[in-house]
Amino acid sequence: MSVEIIKGGSRRLRGEVTPPGDKSISHRSIILSSLALGKSRVSGFLNSDDATSTANAMRALGIRVETKGGGEIQIEGKGLYGLRASKGVIDAGNSGTTARLLIGLLSAQPFDSRITGDKYLRARPMRRVVNPLRLMGARIDGVEDGGRLPLAIRGSRLTGISYQSPVASAQVKSGLLLAGLYADGRTEVIEPNPTRDHTERMLSYFGVKLVVNDNVIAIEKPDEFMGTNISVPGDISSAAFFIVAALINPNSEILIKNVGINPLRTGVLEILTKMGGNIEILDKREVSGEPVADVLVRSSDLRSTEIGGDLIPKAIDELPVISVAACFAEGRTIIKDAGELRVKETDRIRAMTSELNKLGAHVEELKDGMSIEGNESLRGARCSSWGDHRIAMAIAVAGTRARGETEIENAVAVAISYPGFFATLSGLSA
Ligand code: S3P
Repeated sequence: MSVEIIKGGSRRLRGEVTPPGDKSISHRSIILSSLALGKSRVSGFLNSDDATSTANAMRALGIRVETKGGGEIQIEGKGLYGLRASKGVIDAGNSGTTARLLIGLLSAQPFDSRITGDKYLRARPMRRVVNPLRLMGARIDGVEDGGRLPLAIRGSRLTGISYQSPVASAQVKSGLLLAGLYADGRTEVIEPNPTRDHTERMLSYFGVKLVVNDNVIAIEKPDEFMGTNISVPGDISSAAFFIVAALINPNSEILIKNVGINPLRTGVLEILTKMGGNIEILDKREVSGEPVADVLVRSSDLRSTEIGGDLIPKAIDELPVISVAACFAEGRTIIKDAGELRVKETDRIRAMTSELNKLGAHVEELKDGMSIEGNESLRGARCSSWGDHRIAMAIAVAGTRARGETEIENAVAVAISYPGFFATLSGLSA
C-alpha cells in the first residue's frame, strides 16, 4: 500500500501552482470531439486515471484518440453516427462522469453495449440516469434493476422528454443531453438547483443549439458539427487544495495560474471569501467558452460559516477541503443539504469526519453534512484516503498545519485527478 508522509507544523507555503486540466471539461472534450466530424485538438487535457477512462471508452467505440504529450490530445471525430460497438465491456474505472455520460450516449446508439467500473463506482447509484433514459425509450438491464453497474444497454431509438430531475447532478443532466442529441423531438432537463454547465457550454462552442432558461435546459437533435480546438483550463477543484493550504498556513502566499472560474464551480471561492479568506482573482479571461483567471491566496484568519442550498452543487467536490479550512476557523461551521457527498467516490461525510477526528479535530457527522468546531490545533496521525482522491488531498492539506507528521494510506488515489499533487505540495515549502 502506498503511504505518503506529510510534514506538518505550520508550513510557510509560497510559490506558483498551475493545476492540471479540469476533469469535467476534459471528459466532455473527448466525448464531444468524438461526435464531431473531423479532427479536434485539445490542449491542457487532464492526464489522469479518470480522463484516461473516458479516452479508452471512446477508443473502444472506434474513435482514434492520440496523446501528443504535454497535455495535448488529438481526436478524429466520426460524426454523430460514427461510433461502432465496443468488442468488450467498457470500463469506466473510478469515474462517475464517464459512466453516467456514456450511459446516456450509448442508450441512443444503433448497437448494444456493456459498461462497468471499479468496486467504488459499482457501488454508486446509476438509477438517477437510467430512470429518465428509460422514459425516453432506453433499454437498460443490470443488477438491482439497472440501479448499479455493470449495465447492459440495448441501443434504441429515443424520444425526447421533459424531465424534472430530483437530484442536482451535472452528470445526470449531461447524460440526458447526450441522449437528446439523438432523440426525436425535444429533450428538456429541469434541475432543482443549477449545476456545472460545461456540457452546455461545450456543445454551444461546437455550434450545437441549446435553449437555456434558468434551471431548464433543452436540446433538439442537431445537424452534424465539425471538430475544433479546445483549450482546457486548470481545475478549480484541484486548485482548491492549494487555496486552503495557503489560507491556513501562516506567512503563505500562493499564486494559482490558469484556473477555470465557471460561476457554477466557484462556490469554494464564495465560501472561503465569506470565511475571511484573502483571495484575489486576477486577469479574468475567456478560453474556449469558459471563464479563466489566476488566483492569488494569502494566509488568513478564518471565521466559521453556514453552507447549504444553491451553494452546495457549486462547491460539491470542494466540501472535503472546505471542512479542513473550517477546522482552523473561529467558531462552528455547519455544512448542510450536502447528502450527495455520501454517494461520491466514497461517503465523503463519513470519511472526512473520521479522518479529521483522527487528527484531533472536533467534527460531527450530520445526515446531510457536517458540523465542525474550529480553531483546533491538529496533531499528525495515520489516516486513510478511503481510496478517494479528494479525501487523500484534503487530509494532506490538514496535515501541513498539524503538529508532527501525518501519514496517508493509499495515497496513490490522487492519480484519479491530480497525479503530481504531492510533488507540487512539497515544492511550495519555503
Ligand atoms: C461532475 C459532476 C458532479 C461532480 C463530479 C463531476 C461532472 O457529480 O461531483 O466530480 O463532471 O459532471 P454529480 O453530477 O453526481 O453531482
